[in-house]
Amino acid sequence: TTTFRIAPSILSADFARLGEEVKSVIDAGADWIHFDVMDNHYVPNLTFGPMICQALKPHAKTTAGVAVPIDVHLMISPVDALAASFAEAGADLISFHPDASAHVHRSIQAIKSKGVKAGLVFNPAEPLDVLEWTIDEIDLILIMSVNPGFGGQSFIDSALRKIEQARKLIEASGKDIRLEVDGGIKVDNIRRVADAGADTFVAGSAIFGKPDYKGVIDQMRLALG
Ligand code: DX5
Ligand code: ZN
Repeated sequence: TTTFRIAPSILSADFARLGEEVKSVIDAGADWIHFDVMDNHYVPNLTFGPMICQALKPHAKTTAGVAVPIDVHLMISPVDALAASFAEAGADLISFHPDASAHVHRSIQAIKSKGVKAGLVFNPAEPLDVLEWTIDEIDLILIMSVNPGFGGQSFIDSALRKIEQARKLIEASGKDIRLEVDGGIKVDNIRRVADAGADTFVAGSAIFGKPDYKGVIDQMRLALG
């Protein structure tokens, strides 16, 4: 049986109160904290860097004191220097876009050498080809179901077929690899995304856009069954 994980994206949180927002969404049942890093170069938007990650790290735990993983999604180019800074800032997983790195294999090894889990991210129009040469090295595959850069966009349906493909590749590899989906995930489509093979769900506007974070996360878990 699959253990589903819900990873709220703090891109849609109140940036003036980020620490409290991280705490509230963890109290509401978040499994991971999704941290969207944008550089106004690889994507047309600018967010936050390793210093903010480090500042939030002490807030990323349950009231019982259990650490909640920080899932860093790098939408930056180049990758390696900032990935190293995020590893030092307390990131638990670091994912990057293969087209943003000149040497994908090297970037993966550099992340793992810091003791951090590594993931590859695929944009809506990108094939999964690079996985043929990297799947044995990674811990996570992140399928984008919107074009990266902004929260609040609509789910692109062709992502479902790509999730199915990625699930087959994971199964064939026999490895324990998380299959995460990012963009336009809501209570009313999360089940379809899980049926396609995803086990980890990023949701920004669906959660932070409502006053009752727990209400939304509970409804998502109910839909997942
Ligand atoms: C988009 C980011 C997403 C985004 C998702 O570039 O990678 O994580 O915050 O937001 P929603 O859930 O609102 O589509
Ligand atoms: Zn993201």
